[in-house]
Amino acid sequence: MTNRIHFVFLAGFAVLAGSAFVQTAHADGRAAQLARGEYVLATSGCNDCHSPNGFEKGPTVPKADWLVGLPIGFQGPWGTTYPANLRLTVSAMSESQWLVFARQERRPPMPWLGLKAMTDADLKAIYAYIRSLGPAGTPVPAYVPPGGTVNTPYFVFVPTTDSKQARAAQ
Ligand code: HEC
Repeated sequence: MTNRIHFVFLAGFAVLAGSAFVQTAHADGRAAQLARGEYVLATSGCNDCHSPNGFEKGPTVPKADWLVGLPIGFQGPWGTTYPANLRLTVSAMSESQWLVFARQERRPPMPWLGLKAMTDADLKAIYAYIRSLGPAGTPVPAYVPPGGTVNTPYFVFVPTTDSKQARAAQ
């Protein structure tokens, strides 16, 4: 009888210890995924365009401002595009929707082929990390086709040759 009680006690303990182990492993897995997401975002230059002052500060932009979008347009032959507010984008979709959405073709200068080439694990890590920051900011202005009216500041992406240099080269 005593043995049986011991057995039940030990079995119960094993189950408890096992579930604590699973929970810890789960928490470790989550922490590792968030760390990976932060690393991929920082090393892929996403903040350069998608965060205020990103070009100047890159990944040192305060985390509260990470990926809230840029209301300054990028204008070229494709029209005028705005780096989207990714904090709002990911908060509005499930992880499986994100895997499809993140791999879609985008207008310049979004480096969409790089995003498309990422593994599912890295895209999920990005998703988890941006979600952990929470939704923030406001949507960026809508895309303006070529020749349309642009009501915000914008950068112009046009190859230019300095006229003095061109003359000197002749
Ligand atoms: C050189 C600037 C630039 C960089 C760097 C950049 N993006 Fe973008 N991104 C843009 C622009 C501009 C758009 C809007 C494109 C359009 O209108 O088709 C965009 C759009 C997106 C979209 C679509 C979002 C939506 O809600 O419509 C996603 C997702 C995205 N970028 C993710 C990323 C990620 C993740 C990184 C880093 C791996 C990154 N971008 C790096 C400029 C950039």
